[in-house]
Amino acid sequence: MKITIIGTGYVGLVTGACLAELGNDVFCLDVDQRKIDLLNNGGIPIHEPGLEEIVRRNRAAGRIQFSTDVEASVKHGTLQFIAVGTPPDEDGSADLQYVLAAARNIGKYMDGFKVIVDKSTVPVGTGDRVSAAIAEELASRGSNAEFTVVSNPEFLKEGAAVEDFMRPDRIVIGLDDTANGSRAHDLMKKLYAPFNRNHERTYWMDVRSAEFTKYAANAMLATRISFMNELANLADKVGVDIEAVRHGIGSDPRIGHSFLYAGAGYGGSCFPKDVQALERTARQYQQDLLILRAVEKVNDNQKRVLSRKVISRFGEDLTGRHFAVWGLAFKPNTDDMREAPSRVLLKDLLTRGATVSVYDPVAMPEAQRVLKLDLPAVLVERIQFMDGQMDALNEADALVIVTEWKTFRSPDFDRIKAVLKAPVIFDGRNLFEPEVMAENGFEYHGIGRSVLTRK
Ligand code: UDX
Repeated sequence: MKITIIGTGYVGLVTGACLAELGNDVFCLDVDQRKIDLLNNGGIPIHEPGLEEIVRRNRAAGRIQFSTDVEASVKHGTLQFIAVGTPPDEDGSADLQYVLAAARNIGKYMDGFKVIVDKSTVPVGTGDRVSAAIAEELASRGSNAEFTVVSNPEFLKEGAAVEDFMRPDRIVIGLDDTANGSRAHDLMKKLYAPFNRNHERTYWMDVRSAEFTKYAANAMLATRISFMNELANLADKVGVDIEAVRHGIGSDPRIGHSFLYAGAGYGGSCFPKDVQALERTARQYQQDLLILRAVEKVNDNQKRVLSRKVISRFGEDLTGRHFAVWGLAFKPNTDDMREAPSRVLLKDLLTRGATVSVYDPVAMPEAQRVLKLDLPAVLVERIQFMDGQMDALNEADALVIVTEWKTFRSPDFDRIKAVLKAPVIFDGRNLFEPEVMAENGFEYHGIGRSVLTRK
C-alpha cells in the first residue's frame, strides 16, 4: 500500500519504518530539512533499539523515502498518517497547530480519495477539526475530492518502540459510520492484517472513543505509578517493604504485576503531557478530574524524593558535598530527557551548593543540552560529565541512581566502596536488595524500603 507519514518524530519514524518493513511503499515528510538530510544520509535522529537497521534496510530496498516536499507527500499515499507533535500549550492543553497545518496541506494538494489517519495523541474532537480544516481547503479551490478521518492512536513505549509496533497488544481504530468510513475500514484492515493473523487484535470504535482511549490508557498507567509512589513514601515511614507489597498485590489478576514500581517519579513525553491534557479537556466541560490532579501532584512531589533523602542524610546545606549520579534519561534505552526526574534532582543538589559527576550510557549529549537550558551557567559549571559509570564515583559522598539502565544492575560493589568517600547509595529505582546491600557494608536508601532501619 502507498502510505504517507507526516512528521518523522518518534511515532512517525517508527510507524513509517515498521510499515515499510511490512512491505508497504512509505513516504516520510518533515518540515525539518536537517532531519530529512540526516535520514537520507543513513543517520537517525533518535536513539531507539533496532530502528536504524530497519530504516537502512528499507531505504536500500526503496520502500521508504524521506522528503520535505509537501505536494509530493500528499500525492503519494492513499493513507495519510498525521504523526506530528502535540506539545502542551501554556494551559496544559495539547497544541494542535501542527496537526491542523498538516490537515490543511492535505486539503490543498489532494486530488483523489484519501484516508487521514490521526496517529498523534490528540484530544477528543480533533478528528472533526481535522475534517473541517481539509474541507475548508477543498472548498476554497472548488474540489470535491473525498476523504475520511480515522483515529489510530499509538501505544508504543520509547526504548521498545519497534518491538511494540511489531507485536502490538491491541490496535485501536476509530472511524465514522459512513460510506467513506467503510472504505477506510477495508484499507486499515488490509494494512494491519499481518498483526491479526493468529488472533484479532483490532478494536473498532468511533473516532472520539479512539481518541479518548489513548488518554485513558496513559492516565490509568500514570495513576498506578503515583499510587505506588504515595504508598512507598508511607512504607518508608511505617517500616514496610514496598517491593514485598508489590508482589503481594500484583499476584491478584485484577491488579496485575505491571506498572507497580515505586521510584523517582514518571517522566517522558507522554504521561506528564497526557495527564495534563485530559485534565484540561475535563475542565472545558466543567468537570474536575480529582484523581488525575492528585496523580500529577504526587508525581511532581516524587521527583524530589531523592533530593529529600539526600538532604535528610546530609543536611539542607550541601556546600562542599560531591555526588555521583547514574542515569539521566527519563528511563533506560532512550536518550530522551523530557520531564526526566534527574533534572529536578540535579537542580535541587546544585542549588544547595553541591557538585556532581554524572553518567548516562546514551543521554550525555542530550543532557548537556537540556541542563544548559534548565540551569544558570554557574550551576552547570558544577556538573562534571563523565565517560564511564565508575569514573563518576571518585571522591563522591554518595552515589545517587536515577535511571535503571542494565549496566547499573550488577556493578562491582567492592570497587564502588573503594572509590566513594563513604559507602552510601540512594537508589531511585530499587535496583538492589536492602539486605544484600547491608551485608556488603552499604548504607542503602531505596524507595519505600526502609524496613531495615526499623530493625
Ligand atoms: C508511555 C506508555 O507506556 C506508552 O504506551 C505510550 O504510548 C507513551 O507513554 P513511555 O513514555 O515511552 O511510554 O514510557 P514508559 O515505559 O511507559 O514509562 C513512563 C515512565 O513511568 C518512566 O519515567 C518510568 O520510569 C515510569 N515508571 C514506569 C515507573 O515509575 N514505575 C513503573 O512501574 C513503570
